[in-house]
Amino acid sequence: MERWKIWSIIIIMSIALVGVALSQIYWIKWSISLDEKNFDAKVFRALNEVKKQIDENIKNQTLVQDITKDLLIKETENYINKLKSDSSQWRKSQILSDTRSLTFSLNPEIYLENLDPKLINEFIKSSLKSQGIKLDYNYGIFSKKYEDFIIINDHFVSPSKNEKVSKTNISNSNIYNSKYQIQLLTTEFKSPGSLKLLFKNKAEWIWSNILPTMLMNMIFTLLILFAFSYTIYIILKQKKISQMKTDFVNNMTHEFKTPIATISIATDAILNPAIISDKNKIIKFANIIQEENSRLLNQVEQILNIAKLDKHRIQLNMAMVNVHDIIERSCDHLALKLEKKKGELKTDFKADDPEINADEIHLINIFNNLIDNAIKYSLTEPKIAIKTQNADNGIEISISDNGIGIPKQDIKFIFDKFYRVSTGNVHNIKGFGLGLAYVRTFVEAHKGKIFVKSLKNKGTEFKIYFPKL
Ligand SMILES: Nc1ncnc2c1ncn2[C@@H]1O[C@H](COP(=O)(O)OP(=O)(O)O)[C@@H](O)[C@H]1O
Ligand SMILES: [Mg+2]
Repeated sequence: MERWKIWSIIIIMSIALVGVALSQIYWIKWSISLDEKNFDAKVFRALNEVKKQIDENIKNQTLVQDITKDLLIKETENYINKLKSDSSQWRKSQILSDTRSLTFSLNPEIYLENLDPKLINEFIKSSLKSQGIKLDYNYGIFSKKYEDFIIINDHFVSPSKNEKVSKTNISNSNIYNSKYQIQLLTTEFKSPGSLKLLFKNKAEWIWSNILPTMLMNMIFTLLILFAFSYTIYIILKQKKISQMKTDFVNNMTHEFKTPIATISIATDAILNPAIISDKNKIIKFANIIQEENSRLLNQVEQILNIAKLDKHRIQLNMAMVNVHDIIERSCDHLALKLEKKKGELKTDFKADDPEINADEIHLINIFNNLIDNAIKYSLTEPKIAIKTQNADNGIEISISDNGIGIPKQDIKFIFDKFYRVSTGNVHNIKGFGLGLAYVRTFVEAHKGKIFVKSLKNKGTEFKIYFPKL
């Protein structure tokens, strides 16, 4: 997949995710305000219900405290008695009720002050319940005359005229400001006071309504985000792998082309009638063919070996071997290559006990690979140092060079199969990216460890530890 395609997918997906998130925030806000409106409407319906019930209750009530009213009613009763005897019973009760209304209109405060807190609470409770609201609440009856509450939560409280926030504790100021209120006992002329409600857990209640959907939305959005990031990660990884494979194939064909071309030229030469009779020349060309052929074989072997690298199928021929001897042999093997680059190699064998239990062939290959790299990845004359020492019931070997080093971001990948640091056009060092994968696999097969330290343009140090076993 091309770069721009990946980027467009990332951008489109990010826009979509941000869009989804924004619309969710909008939706939540909208839902909260809707819930709140709904709640308010229910509360006001309940308050109206309470008001109606209180009015009903008042009408059928005679209050001893209201002397004027009593007197008035007495007078009325006298009047009724004086009415013609044929006047209907209905008419009489009508007059009585009119009088009651009148007294009430004249002095509704009296009624307000004589409300029964327990009864009001009953009214509130049942009205709220019928609206489906089961939240805890505080209520208060506020009197205009006293400019304070006269009833709070089932109790009469003494109103104070002077202090704004009264003796009836601080929470009253909350009730005072509550928007849930209704004028009680209103007459044409005035209203003596109001009923105020305060819900303690209203916000919680509203949130608990939308929380489940909100959480689900969030979880799904996160899931999408996760799946999306993972997909991008996989795409990038695949891209890298495919790049690595292309590099590998290019490398391989290049490496194979030279020997094949040389062999082809040599055979052409042999077949030349002028040469075919010259025994010495034929031997010379045959030697070239053989040499190139073995080079080819070597490379094929290297690729096959690494393809077989499966930890579970590794078989080691363990025997006691002397690590110092192995390193010496490896150095001899690469001496020619080192000489060609005018490099120098110093050994410093400090291990008193260089014997470990290991597979000799693989051990040689491990050192061959590391020393080969040390020679290869140097643009100047390589200076290589190999040190050993006994440590932690085993042996520690350090191989350091002054070569091109490995960029920090590449270090964690160099042990991967086919991985090669992309070098741009600075130099052109051949390889398949298989050497270090081999090294790590077999160091670990020997229960050893491998570490690398590297500074770009300064050099690289590989440290291997083998247990004695
Ligand atoms: N001594 C070293 N100095 C600098 N870079 C190194 C060294 N050894 C390994 N590397 C980097 O690690 C990569 C992997 O090494 P390796 O597996 O041996 O593959 P190859 O040598 O075939 O490229 C190399 O391509 C190179 O970029
Ligand atoms: Mg290598």
